[in-house]
Amino acid sequence: MLHRMINQADPRQTELPGEVQPSSAPSAATNSTLSPLWWGGAAVLAGGAAAALGLLTYALQVEPLDIRLERLTVRLPGAAGRLPQGGLRILQLSDSHFHGGKYNRRELAKIERVRALTAGLDYDLLFHTGDFIHFDSGLENVLRLLNAVPRPRLGSFGVFGNHDYTHYAMQEALPRMWRTFQAAERMRDPQRGPLARIAAAATRGPRYLRYVRNTPLDGRRTGGNNTDRLTTALAQWGMTLLHNQGFHLVRPELGLDVYLAGVDDVIEGRPRLGDSVCDIPDHAPLILLSHNPDIIASPQLPRVDLVLSGHTHGGQIRVPFWGPAHTQVEFVPRQHVSGFFRHGRTQVYITRGMGEGIPLRFRARPQITLIEVTT
Ligand SMILES: [Fe+2]
Repeated sequence: MLHRMINQADPRQTELPGEVQPSSAPSAATNSTLSPLWWGGAAVLAGGAAAALGLLTYALQVEPLDIRLERLTVRLPGAAGRLPQGGLRILQLSDSHFHGGKYNRRELAKIERVRALTAGLDYDLLFHTGDFIHFDSGLENVLRLLNAVPRPRLGSFGVFGNHDYTHYAMQEALPRMWRTFQAAERMRDPQRGPLARIAAAATRGPRYLRYVRNTPLDGRRTGGNNTDRLTTALAQWGMTLLHNQGFHLVRPELGLDVYLAGVDDVIEGRPRLGDSVCDIPDHAPLILLSHNPDIIASPQLPRVDLVLSGHTHGGQIRVPFWGPAHTQVEFVPRQHVSGFFRHGRTQVYITRGMGEGIPLRFRARPQITLIEVTT
């Protein structure tokens, strides 16, 4: 009966065996209702995708090449009467991370940028605070970089960074850190009551993110670089590597009499700050080169007046309202992932460096720094 009433009301609804029904008026009405929503959703998705693509292109292709020359003045009151008139001018390079090979074009562009930024620069000392290379194949570009900047008046010094020693599979870092995090959670669970265990399970994701944010990325070591070859090439070029040792920088005719020291890499080397400073007279002004700023945790740090470091890349990716995606350090406060700060009586400067292993930067522009040390 009901079937018959429907058929009577609209004969087009009658479905005959073996016949394909043409589009009906009600379905056309449905399309006209949904179409604006569909187009609106598609436009939002397309806009989001375009914005994401734009950001990614910027982070991959624009910001990493936009090296800036930044200037810093540091006062060393203890160096009164021991610095040249007008102070000591230091050009700090760091974290060049040269790969060579398929990255060559990009790296040559960076070198040309540094050449342009430093053209005609008159300065005293050239420092490179480590991660010269990412792979041995980057050595040629290290020498190109050093040849691109004007020669300093008084000398060139450097220290090794972790990447000068070691390669890492960084794509494995997050899964490895998840396993480490989970193992720590499993250790803690027996001490938790039932409610605390539920709360811990519910907050595991955000707590893992916080763990990643505050912990150096744990890439698996996959091999090593030829540090002997790098040492020889730098020495032939004219750079002195300070490998757990000090250096008396004295030029009486300029009124210069200060000390430099360099320490081996904190992660992959054998850092011995005590050895670096043991022959330096008490109270003599001392500038320390350390690739990794975690050296500030060393008990000998108070002996140092100024630490110059790199390694953090300024966080490399700085997320709005979140800060550096990660800092690669354990003992440096997050707010000091780059730039100048004081740690006790010691002044510390961390450069964002000019390169990167993973070729991506966002709101952590690469830099080289001209440091003027005065009294
Ligand atoms: Fe680095």
